[in-house]
Amino acid sequence: MLKTVAVIPGDDAAPEAMRPVVALLDSLNIGLHWQYPEVGEAAEARTGSPFPAAAKRTIDAADTTLFGSTSGKSGAALHYLRWGKETYANVRPCRYLPGCASPLRDPAGIDFVIVRENLEDLYVGVEGELQELAPLNLAGRTIRKPVHAIGHGRYAVKAITREGSERVVRFAFELAQKRDGRRKLTCATKHNMLRETDGLFLDVARAVAVEYPDVEFESFIVDDFACRMIREPRQFDVVVMPNQYGDILSDAAGGLVGSLGLAASGCFGADYAYFEPAHGTAPDIAGRNIINPTATILSATMMLEHLGFATHARNIEAAVARVYAGGQTLTPDQGGSASTTEFCDAVARAL
Ligand code: IPM
Ligand code: MG
Repeated sequence: MLKTVAVIPGDDAAPEAMRPVVALLDSLNIGLHWQYPEVGEAAEARTGSPFPAAAKRTIDAADTTLFGSTSGKSGAALHYLRWGKETYANVRPCRYLPGCASPLRDPAGIDFVIVRENLEDLYVGVEGELQELAPLNLAGRTIRKPVHAIGHGRYAVKAITREGSERVVRFAFELAQKRDGRRKLTCATKHNMLRETDGLFLDVARAVAVEYPDVEFESFIVDDFACRMIREPRQFDVVVMPNQYGDILSDAAGGLVGSLGLAASGCFGADYAYFEPAHGTAPDIAGRNIINPTATILSATMMLEHLGFATHARNIEAAVARVYAGGQTLTPDQGGSASTTEFCDAVARAL
């Protein structure tokens, strides 16, 4: 079965991770067909648009997209993959592999997944001058003056919907059922301050929990959760949270097991999914062939599983684990001196 993957290698150091990972997957000979939609600066220079219609068509026609981290102009493609394709559940695993440079004394057994709501919250992109709010004369619960009168500044809208919360919470419960974990779902919100928005998210989660009696449900205020995530990370299985907390805490989770270079992700919607490392483009190390490709490899294994190649995905994960356990060929962020391509070669050999 031929599967088409649209590849967007990304910016700065990201393509240096993407190229050997595509080569690694290609060497499996499982019928993956790669397409490279032109986006970002190159597309803009040639067509006038950083996300031309042809790129959109390629993404739409593909079975999935493998996306390297982007900054700047290719952000338009990321917008399309999230909001255009409605990929509402951003799945970000945090699993300790022995040999990774975790800052914890005893990181063994850390294995949880953050499910980040991917489309709503403060990321709806509605911001403006506080003065624009004067006609609404909005009085806050905490400040004494109408919000436009507290000073000269800006606002951002935080929007949480019942539908958006419900679908991501259901997704998280179903993941907890499928995963080989402890069948537990933790919800993290700031409902004590944000009673209407995060309060709604939590209310929805509690209501949906009744339908999944086989999954233990618990909830924490997100700041408390942040502390628990570091002090007792083995307590967690699947954790669901609104967009911004998930963005921040998934980077923290990457740091917990070793580095951002380990943080993989997959964004799932009703009829499309795409896969991307959770980290940024690492401009400080661009061009040096030292970016840790693990996040890209593990995002690619999530993709393989999604495409129906679960066995190949498990084999590559096992190969990555062997390379870390061996400790001979690690990238600088993990205390080694191997290059990106040497790491990928080591994974290929372990495979
Ligand atoms: C991530 C990134 C993105 C986000 C940026 C690049 C827009 O930080 O995927 O976590 O904030 O979602
Ligand atoms: Mg982020």
